[in-house]
Amino acid sequence: MKTTEHEWEIDSLYMDDVYSVAYTEHVRTIRHEAALVLPRIALKHLIAEGVVIHDPDAEPPKGVTERQPFFFRKRLIEYLHDRGDLLRDGDAYRPTEEMIRRAATSEAEYFGDGANSPTLLAMKHIESIAGGVLQGRDGLVLLEEAIGAEETWRTWQYLMVDAAPKRACNSLVARTLDLRLRAGKPVVVFEGGAGLGATLREAFRIEGFRERAEHIESFGFTDINRALMRRSEEMVREEAPELLERIHFDRVDLDQLDDYDELPYLQDASADIVIFESVLHDVENLERVLTSCHRILKPGGWLAFTIGSRGRPGQFFPCEFLQSTLHSYYRAELDPPRRSHVGYLTAEEWSLSLRDAGFPEFRIFPDQEFRDQWPYGGIIARRP
Ligand SMILES: C[S@@+](CC[C@H](N)C(=O)[O-])C[C@H]1O[C@@H](n2cnc3c(N)ncnc32)[C@H](O)[C@@H]1O
Repeated sequence: MKTTEHEWEIDSLYMDDVYSVAYTEHVRTIRHEAALVLPRIALKHLIAEGVVIHDPDAEPPKGVTERQPFFFRKRLIEYLHDRGDLLRDGDAYRPTEEMIRRAATSEAEYFGDGANSPTLLAMKHIESIAGGVLQGRDGLVLLEEAIGAEETWRTWQYLMVDAAPKRACNSLVARTLDLRLRAGKPVVVFEGGAGLGATLREAFRIEGFRERAEHIESFGFTDINRALMRRSEEMVREEAPELLERIHFDRVDLDQLDDYDELPYLQDASADIVIFESVLHDVENLERVLTSCHRILKPGGWLAFTIGSRGRPGQFFPCEFLQSTLHSYYRAELDPPRRSHVGYLTAEEWSLSLRDAGFPEFRIFPDQEFRDQWPYGGIIARRP
């Protein structure tokens, strides 16, 4: 969606090769896997007595620890109901015979040859901790207890960076950075929530990126978690050591962006591009973060971030399954109509939030008609 008529460089950003037939198949596979695993979780933890009572309009709690079991339960029930797996009678929801049969199907029978996919394995890890999540415990802590720290972080990297559906997010921000570098002018980058470096990892795969990276004047590679950044520093040391002296690995909390007097790339009108890969929906006060980005960007600078656009519950819950187990996913200060949902926002909420923060011009990927099919994508906004 383009919000103004005149052209800008971002119109040349090409994503058709990413949103391919194979990509569509990956998203479909995840939904197919979820249609087995999520009914199993519900039957074991919520519907053991054959019925679950749920009020879709119940007021959500405010604290993250209370929100986690509330929303995990709510979204699981609403996912199943929207799919037609649960039948509703007032506040009572009962599973269909078909759902009960499906949940009891063996994986070998349900998937045939596909029973060993890494996404299924990750979902089964989450399934193993769902009882604890429904009691309000953090998913990462539970996973570390259940499968050990190493396997937890392998699962995390897989789902956050390497899983096929994430290609749309990683590619979008990597290509946007590359496009900005193609102008051949010095570029100051600020990336927040950069964690394991999904953006840079993907950028290194773009032909000619390493040469164009000469134009990076400085790159503020930041996250709230230093351990993740250390892994990224190692990755850059191996992949592109020539960049190390221009990449600054700093701990930055996105909810405090106006408090870093010492970081040059966070000063007024200092950055050419701000990047957030799979993190902006996690911040507490979205409007404050967006307003700070407006302050930090030079006029004509770009704000590039990735999103999962919240759609129908029956389609969308598998796309936020892992995040839904994390306390950090529930920090949102709600601010309707700009931000009515905890966790991922709808495209409409993003649009309202951007306009109010001073970004009238932006483009959402993919186009509206494809967002149910391909929920992962992103938004590129330009500071006027
Ligand atoms: C879902 S992961 C995104 C993946 C990340 N872009 C990568 O490449 O690994 C969210 C990241 O944002 C970071 N994060 C979450 N809240 C944050 C905040 N308020 N400020 C800064 N970073 C934050 C997390 O530590 C994590 O690395």
